[in-house]
Amino acid sequence: MNKRDFLKSVALLGLGVSSGNKILRALPPAPSETEPAAANSEDFWEKIQAGYVRDPDRINLENGYYCVMPKPTLEASVRHAREQNLQGTYYLRTRQADDKVATRSMLAKFGGCELGELIVTRNTTESLDTVVSGFDWRQGDEAVMAFQDYPSMLAMFKQQARRYGIVNRMVSVPNHPESDDEIVSLYERAISPKTRLLMVCHVVNITGQILPVRKICDMARSHGVPVMVDGAHSFAQLDFKIPDLGCDYFGASLHKWLGAPLGLGILYVRRDRIPSLWPLLGDAEYGSDDIRKLNHIGTNPVHSELTIPDAIGFHNRIGSARKESRLRFLQQYWTTQVRDLAGITLNTPFEPSRTCAIANVRVNSRSPDELARVLLERHRIWTVAIDNPEASVRGIRVTPNLFTTTAELDTLIGALRELT
Ligand SMILES: Cc1ncc(COP(=O)(O)O)c(C=O)c1O
Repeated sequence: MNKRDFLKSVALLGLGVSSGNKILRALPPAPSETEPAAANSEDFWEKIQAGYVRDPDRINLENGYYCVMPKPTLEASVRHAREQNLQGTYYLRTRQADDKVATRSMLAKFGGCELGELIVTRNTTESLDTVVSGFDWRQGDEAVMAFQDYPSMLAMFKQQARRYGIVNRMVSVPNHPESDDEIVSLYERAISPKTRLLMVCHVVNITGQILPVRKICDMARSHGVPVMVDGAHSFAQLDFKIPDLGCDYFGASLHKWLGAPLGLGILYVRRDRIPSLWPLLGDAEYGSDDIRKLNHIGTNPVHSELTIPDAIGFHNRIGSARKESRLRFLQQYWTTQVRDLAGITLNTPFEPSRTCAIANVRVNSRSPDELARVLLERHRIWTVAIDNPEASVRGIRVTPNLFTTTAELDTLIGALRELT
């Protein structure tokens, strides 16, 4: 979206009108369209880094849980909260509905889908669990998923197994696949005539591995099986549009890579899949073919939702392709310097196309907890320990963000060298 488009869409939002110009002025300068900044052009990325507040106490390499907001988005969210508090229920009763449509429209444009296929939720958990709980499950129905999927969704499938007697078929995705075909056929072998839903992560959260989702969706479709994509880590990290994936359902969290306030997500449901999905929370307002039937959540923090256009505006000043290539550069910068060290195991594929920001590393002589603790206590490096034998992943997850500097990654590399 260019500057004019951004201003036009912000102008649609009642409370956003006065803030749009200010936010744009506060953004780091955009690079020339004809000369896109290279992933390793530190001059350019320093300007983006300046758009964030930094924690002086720690090197934050744990941006997989959620990503802090850049300064202009943070300021906008505070301003929206103040304005909302000023107008109170007048705002809720007279303007909330129009603003919600405008926000959804912006997100639909960002995701490349139709307005009628997308709603704003609280997070990926709510989005995907709405889908899993919305099926008319019958005893003996089967669902396919991986040990490497996110625990909340696996728990929801287990609940359906207890409640309706469905059977969950689990696959295990290798940390270092030979090819896309190896992964696609893993999923294909788990499909049977009883399979009613297949869940797949676009980016595996514990290793950062990008899965060949389009190929998995095409394969599943050839068996008549719908696919639900967990896009928690792909949305606004990777450069794609939701329909590119060929999936039926897609959920993501906007507080992760879009840098929106905590507690925001999206659910995409392909138009022809909407009528058969039951809402998690009862709704009597919308018809069965209207996606808003899935969104009857009661009173909610509208000021956060009003900040979504600001977060999109910041993202678009950088650009999806440029952001993806910078995040991949940062990950490759440190992993290529440690992966051949004796005593180190990289739990993330080496091929750049199979990864972006996230990677997982193990120092073989230390437990994940111990490694994360030593890095924090001795080097002020904040990561997260992943100890999941069922998923064959033991190590620490390292997730830089756009504000991460190569000097900070040098500290990580030095620490890992010292520990081995
Ligand atoms: C792959 C994946 N799916 C789902 C989630 C859940 O996200 P949220 O807590 O925002 O619902 C996460 C969170 O880290 C995740 O990594």
